[in-house]
Amino acid sequence: MFDLKGRVALVTGAGQGIGTGIARHLARHGARVLVNDIDPAKAEAAAGSIQGEDGEAEALTFDVTDREAVAAALGRRAIDIVVNNAGNAGATPMRPRPFRESEPADWAGPIDVNLHGVMNTTHAVLGGMVERRHGRIITIASGAGVIGLPIGVAPYGAAKGGSISFMRHIAVENAPLGVTANSLALGLMEMAEVHDEDLVAKLAATVPAGRLGTGDDVGPACLWLASDEASWVTGQTIHVNGGSLTT
Ligand SMILES: NC(=O)c1ccc[n+]([C@@H]2O[C@H](COP(=O)([O-])OP(=O)(O)OC[C@H]3O[C@@H](n4cnc5c(N)ncnc54)[C@H](O)[C@@H]3O)[C@@H](O)[C@H]2O)c1
Repeated sequence: MFDLKGRVALVTGAGQGIGTGIARHLARHGARVLVNDIDPAKAEAAAGSIQGEDGEAEALTFDVTDREAVAAALGRRAIDIVVNNAGNAGATPMRPRPFRESEPADWAGPIDVNLHGVMNTTHAVLGGMVERRHGRIITIASGAGVIGLPIGVAPYGAAKGGSISFMRHIAVENAPLGVTANSLALGLMEMAEVHDEDLVAKLAATVPAGRLGTGDDVGPACLWLASDEASWVTGQTIHVNGGSLTT
């Protein structure tokens, strides 16, 4: 069950955090993983750590927001599984603030990476998937794309909500053609850049499961959606969030 041998999987933004966890899980189950990141050093390090566990991995550097770069990197490759994971505010830190206090220039970062990035990658691989009558597209979204939150992330939430809706359309357009498209809406996760133990404990206390999520929580969900066994699961948004209320 859930054997990905012979499959090629691309995980975007996999140079750290949740993406590395996802890539590791797919490799452990036999996929040859293309470890994408905008930062070549991070992509190489993550691919190296997967190879160190005898997984098959290749670093692949490109910026998901650069449509031409995405097409050039992916155009000639036969990719079976894509996990659209690159997100947050892209290569810049997230700057949460109430929308009324934001500048239009603040909106582009989150929207480019979380929505246009997903569209760019999907566009580059979908034709080949349809030709081969097999494909799995998984987008890493967020509870912020489903409900409103008073934490100053409206443009991010709009982009995540857009990516969830985009997956539903891709799912329905391609359902008879062997390609599935689903979203995972994540809750509060451990963050590579946050080392404040008090803050982590405070956030963890708000999660019914009592802890923040990690790539090891998300990887198995991706593995299932990427598997042959999940061929009848498409157009769904699955909440992976330790039981946090989402609707
Ligand atoms: N961390 C959370 O609390 C949380 C919660 C819900 C959803 N998510 C989503 O989960 C996903 C992963 O989150 P994370 O916290 O592990 O991310 P992260 O910011 O720790 O890592 C993202 C990686 O993506 C790379 N990246 C950034 N912009 C890129 C681009 N344009 N092209 C290619 N690579 C790029 C970065 O270099 C980095 O290595 C994101 O989509 C995020 O929105 C995160």
